[in-house]
Amino acid sequence: MKKYLVIVCTLLLISSAVALDNGLALTPPMGWLAWERFRCNVDCATDPYNCISESLFMTMGDLLVSQGYAALGYNIVSLDDCWLDDERDADGKLQPDAARFPSGLKGLADFLHAKGLKFGMYEDYGNYTCAGYPGILGYLEIDAQTFAEWGVDYVKLDGCYADPVDMDQGYPEFGQYLNATGRPMVYSCSWPDYQLVNGMTPDWDSIIRTCNLWRNFDDIQDSWESVSSIINYYGDNQDDIIPNAGPGHWNDPDMLIIGNFGLSYEQAKAQMALWAILAAPLLMSNDLRNMDPQYKEILQNEAIIAVDQDTLGLQGRRYSKEGNIDIWGRMINPTTDTEYSYAIAALNQNTDGTPRDVTIPLSLIGMTYSGGYTCTDLYTGVTLGNYAPDSNIEVRVNPTGVVILRCDINS
Ligand SMILES: *[C@@H]1O[C@H](CO)[C@@H](O)[C@H](O)[C@H]1NC(C)=O
Ligand SMILES: *[C@@H]1O[C@H](CO)[C@@H](O)[C@H](O)[C@H]1NC(C)=O
Repeated sequence: MKKYLVIVCTLLLISSAVALDNGLALTPPMGWLAWERFRCNVDCATDPYNCISESLFMTMGDLLVSQGYAALGYNIVSLDDCWLDDERDADGKLQPDAARFPSGLKGLADFLHAKGLKFGMYEDYGNYTCAGYPGILGYLEIDAQTFAEWGVDYVKLDGCYADPVDMDQGYPEFGQYLNATGRPMVYSCSWPDYQLVNGMTPDWDSIIRTCNLWRNFDDIQDSWESVSSIINYYGDNQDDIIPNAGPGHWNDPDMLIIGNFGLSYEQAKAQMALWAILAAPLLMSNDLRNMDPQYKEILQNEAIIAVDQDTLGLQGRRYSKEGNIDIWGRMINPTTDTEYSYAIAALNQNTDGTPRDVTIPLSLIGMTYSGGYTCTDLYTGVTLGNYAPDSNIEVRVNPTGVVILRCDINS
């Protein structure tokens, strides 16, 4: 028994001490990713404006800077599937579609770097990408080296056309090859998602040691149904999910779809707020050339971004769900030795059209600081007041909408 305890304690020490230590993603990554909005449109002959081409990524890079997103932290411009040629080159290296990426990926990376942005790559651990282009299986080392030569800063590695059982060995192996290049590259893994879908239990210790972020659940689609299913998945499975997150290693509930076709204004505010509570990567997939100013304002809400990027890196949790009203909270700075400040979100998932009055007891969230809290509504900017630990916060929440607050401990 004693021996058993020693082993358990040693394992605990190891698992808490060893996370991927490449110095990257100490707060959740932010930027722009092509997939949800632009998919696999390779038809540049008839749709040059929307097809997957270097000009699309250069334009989005330009707009991240000129429209003020980059200054707020959105600094990655990332490829997704369908940038590739159908074949590797004569030396076995990956190559982009030459007609759609005439500058080559080094050229695209140089363009983005000159603007102070980071360049994101997409590949797939299997024999093919999800859309059927060459995957990295059998070429792990050469592909990691190619990414470093091109100036890649961020790698999203998908898991189509692969055996999920092999991923426990394959994702770490590719991570070692990335590391061996000497070029710091954020490593985004789809590994646990493919395993969960196949009924496997992911090896979280290994995932945390290997990846800066990982997907847990379904791809996001352009609808509130999709966004709310993701929020509910993260709430329903939070005891398994939350402990894995922290600086350098994050759960990824998938892209922000704010500014597209599917979300109302209230629903867009709800996605932004919940992603901040979840300490989620903020990777927009939208058309920055055509952004409704109201939606842009949501994406550029500095107070909510600050919650998302809080340096403690503690993912929030759902404290209650009653009558389709969720109350979520997240511990944030500033702190005392024993007490935290909190971000709080009240989410109304009812669709009956009527705003709901919601009572949030501070005790529900474990807010016990005797000096009390000053709470501010992060969308209106209005300070609601001072709250003692035995008091309630009253808010009115629109249907499929949210109220997000931050409650700082009084100094
Ligand atoms: C990948 O391709 C190789 C070579 O054709 C094949 O042996 C292997 O079974 C494939 N792997 C998967 C997971 O499809
Ligand atoms: C490689 O791994 C070592 C050990 O974890 C780490 O200190 C180093 O920063 C990593 N380098 C890169 C380029 O990821």
